[in-house]
Amino acid sequence: MNAVELLKKQHREVDALVERFEKARRDDEKEAIFLELAARLVAHDAIEREIFYPACERALGKIEPLMEGIAEHGLIEFSIFRADKARGKHSFDYLVRVLAEMVKHHVEEEEAEVLPQIEDAMDESRLARLGERLQERFDASMSTTFRTPLRRNLEQVIGGRTKTTPPKRAAARATGRKRPMRGGKRPTVRAKKKEAR
Ligand SMILES: [Fe+2]
Ligand SMILES: [Fe+2]
Repeated sequence: MNAVELLKKQHREVDALVERFEKARRDDEKEAIFLELAARLVAHDAIEREIFYPACERALGKIEPLMEGIAEHGLIEFSIFRADKARGKHSFDYLVRVLAEMVKHHVEEEEAEVLPQIEDAMDESRLARLGERLQERFDASMSTTFRTPLRRNLEQVIGGRTKTTPPKRAAARATGRKRPMRGGKRPTVRAKKKEAR
């Protein structure tokens, strides 16, 4: 499945979960659906912020819908965090609805303004390779708790981060890559500076 098809498929899966949440009556059912939704949204955020958006930036430049999109990801994550904290409370229902509204708005813009541009800019084989990387990263993210990356991303958002790519350390942690070690020791300050250049 190519990158655009994969992202759209995941958007529809999120739509279906939101629909199920709206129809659910029991609190435990609502909570289970929310936890599934939160995990999928955090994993979707990871594949877009770490892989897809940077690829778009390289292909299209810092276009406005992309920069707006990454800012919206931060707001969506804050909404996930708030709803997660409100589980079992009266505010849980409306905080999940606020989250769903933000996601709906974001997905509409992404599908109308970003995805068609990248489909024009990349050929099929490149989109297919990108799709494979996205799926791999999504699966890795879904196999761990969503709360740790959510907190880490929120700390970056609060710190004013607006770039589409995460810092090298966070990216390495997220993908399970180890930073290069020299002689079994941690990299020296000079080595770190060289790497940062
Ligand atoms: Fe998306
Ligand atoms: Fe997005």
